[in-house]
Amino acid sequence: MILCANFKANKTRQETRAYMAVVESFVSVNEIDDTVIVFPPFTALEHLPRNVLIGVQNAYPVENGAYTGEIALEQLEEFEVKTILIGHSERRHILGETQEQIAAKFRFFAEKGFAIIYCVGEPIEIRQQGADALMRYVDAQFVGIDCNYTDLILAYEPVWAIGTGLTPTSDQIVDMHAVLRTKTHAPLLYGGSVKVDNAGSIMALENVDGVLVGSASLSANDFCEMIALAAQLKNV
Ligand code: 13P
Repeated sequence: MILCANFKANKTRQETRAYMAVVESFVSVNEIDDTVIVFPPFTALEHLPRNVLIGVQNAYPVENGAYTGEIALEQLEEFEVKTILIGHSERRHILGETQEQIAAKFRFFAEKGFAIIYCVGEPIEIRQQGADALMRYVDAQFVGIDCNYTDLILAYEPVWAIGTGLTPTSDQIVDMHAVLRTKTHAPLLYGGSVKVDNAGSIMALENVDGVLVGSASLSANDFCEMIALAAQLKNV
C-alpha cells in the first residue's frame, strides 16, 4: 500500500518536525514496509535522512530562473526531493492551472526522474451529468500525460469528496479505479475525506493501492493508525 499525507497549506516547520518524529518512529518500531509519503509545505523541508519519503505539493517546471514566487528544480535538489504531486484539484480549480500547464509540469518532472503522484477527479456537477460526461471529463485530464511513465502513481480524488466529509460509495470507487486501471499499470490511490474510520475499507477495495489523505493526515496519530490499517490488510 501507499499512504500519502498532503498537508496543503497547513503546519509550520516546528509542527512538521514534531509530526515527522511521530510518524518516523511509528514506521520504524512497527517495521512498516508500505510506502509512506508526506507532502509538507515548502517551508518545512529539511535535508535529513528519513525512513519515509518527502514530496512537494507543487513546483515550477524549470531548473531555476526569473519566476517570482515559484520554487524550481534547483531548490528541490538542495533537499533531495524527488517526489511531486501534480494535477491536484485545488491547483486546477483554485490556482487556475490548465491541463496544458499541468502536462508541461508532468513532462518536465518525468524527464528529471521524479516520482509523480498525478491527480484526477471530477466536480459534483459533472458526476451528476452521468457516466459519459464523467469519463469525458476525466479523459481530458489525461491529455499530455504519459500513463506509462515508470514512476507514476495515479490518484483519483473526486472534487466533491475533498474536505467535505462525503465519500463516494465503494462501487463508485471500484468503478472509477477499474477505468483507470485500463489506462495504466501504475498504483492507484483514492483521495477525498479518507479518515481512520473508512481508510481500511477503502484500501481493501479492488484496484485501490493506497490513499491520499488531506485533513485527517494532519494528526500524526490518525495517519499512523491508517498506516497500521494498511499493514493489517496484508495479514488477512
Ligand atoms: P481531504 O482528505 O481533506 O478530503 O483532502 C483530500 C486531498 O485533497 C488530498 O490530496
